[in-house]
Amino acid sequence: MSLTGSGMTNYDTILGRMVVDLSLCTETEVRHCIEEKKSHSPEDPITLEQILLDKQFVTNTQLGRMRTLIRESKDVSNQIPGYKILGKLGSGAMAVVYKAKQISLDRTVAIKVLPKKFVQKADYVERFYKEGRLAAKMNHNNIVQAIDVGEVGGLYYFVMEFVEGKTLHDDLSKGKIFGEDEAIDLILQLISALGHAHSMGLVHRDVKPKNIMLNKDNVVKLADMGLARETSDIKAAKHEQGKAFGTPYYIAPEQIRGLMDIDGRADIYALGATLFHMVTGRVPFEAGSPSEVMKKHLKEPLTPPDHINTALTAGMAEVIEVMMAKNRDQRYATMAEVMDDLKAVRQGHPPLMARQKFNVKSLEELEEGMILGTTDDGEQKIYTAEAIATYRLWVIVLGALSALMALAVLFMLTR
Ligand SMILES: Nc1ncnc2c1ncn2[C@@H]1O[C@H](COP(=O)(O)OP(=O)(O)OP(=O)(O)O)[C@@H](O)[C@H]1O
Ligand SMILES: [Mg+2]
Repeated sequence: MSLTGSGMTNYDTILGRMVVDLSLCTETEVRHCIEEKKSHSPEDPITLEQILLDKQFVTNTQLGRMRTLIRESKDVSNQIPGYKILGKLGSGAMAVVYKAKQISLDRTVAIKVLPKKFVQKADYVERFYKEGRLAAKMNHNNIVQAIDVGEVGGLYYFVMEFVEGKTLHDDLSKGKIFGEDEAIDLILQLISALGHAHSMGLVHRDVKPKNIMLNKDNVVKLADMGLARETSDIKAAKHEQGKAFGTPYYIAPEQIRGLMDIDGRADIYALGATLFHMVTGRVPFEAGSPSEVMKKHLKEPLTPPDHINTALTAGMAEVIEVMMAKNRDQRYATMAEVMDDLKAVRQGHPPLMARQKFNVKSLEELEEGMILGTTDDGEQKIYTAEAIATYRLWVIVLGALSALMALAVLFMLTR
């Protein structure tokens, strides 16, 4: 996007690009804001920041964060030893990603720079290095290769393979709805990538369309693997008002609850939510604020995806529902299990593991006191355990009465 021109400062150009990257407004809206800035006379100047605030495209908090990102990333641009920054690739809620040249090997790389402000805690920094090093050891065609981690001037950077292409988010934000087979083909590549990471003891924790890239040959590349996430990101999202800053559309319930022992099943949930979006064109839970979206992940039952897109097979819907079970014990346990079921669905067979999980879920719900049943006239109804127990008692009483009557009749006849 060209956001340069007369009356525009370099800061405006970077800010304009950032608000679009963060989906806070569209490119056209930014252009209008720029036009408005230009239309002001020199006697009555106005900043682009002020216009964005007036039009409520950004909140003061968001603007504050963006100022920090821009200021700090400017400081770093040509300071990372061994790399020459070539330009900016994009930005997210917490970082700026640059295209750069790794001088020693004369190759193009991507460098993610996280401002100090967001990585203040010692345990986070420790995890940043530990997970970064572990990720650099991985070698998988569907994972963006991690190359290096380091720190310069208080900024932490993560060097990775440069992917020329687009993100899955780019496709989804244009309204693309994936056909079932196309979606399965892409998801199977991600399952293979995540299965590999899990086997090496790494959980991604932030699987979402913005972290899924598609290169020029349509090969999937999972980004940000090994980039430790700060739990305060979630707290920040919970408190964010107004327009979303990294709205948690794909996050697993146990991550929202802040559980410490997050495992591969959190990635299964997030991948299920991503698949849901791909085949229905909608995120699983929508609401006006990040905290409302999180509440729905915790409490609201999932709308079966085949109710939204009736072209989906029942098998596909079952797989997504089991991937997104709120209780992780009712989810698939491993990526290998999801892979088996998705491959079966693609071949027109039922997803056996999902069926098994559904049965276990029904039994557990019976123990917890509820089960979905069908009445005589075919209507679906929720029966409580108490109702079922009363029903069973009646069956026993009536059975005993019938037996008694039969005995009495027999006794009279034999006399
Ligand atoms: N390895 C890479 N190669 C090329 N472009 C990349 C690479 N990694 C990231 N990008 C680009 O940089 C953008 C910003 O990435 P970043 O991870 O900072 O944020 P995000 O994933 O979009 O969102 P969030 O901040 O919510 O995590 C991406 O959307 C993508 O366009
Ligand atoms: Mg990312």
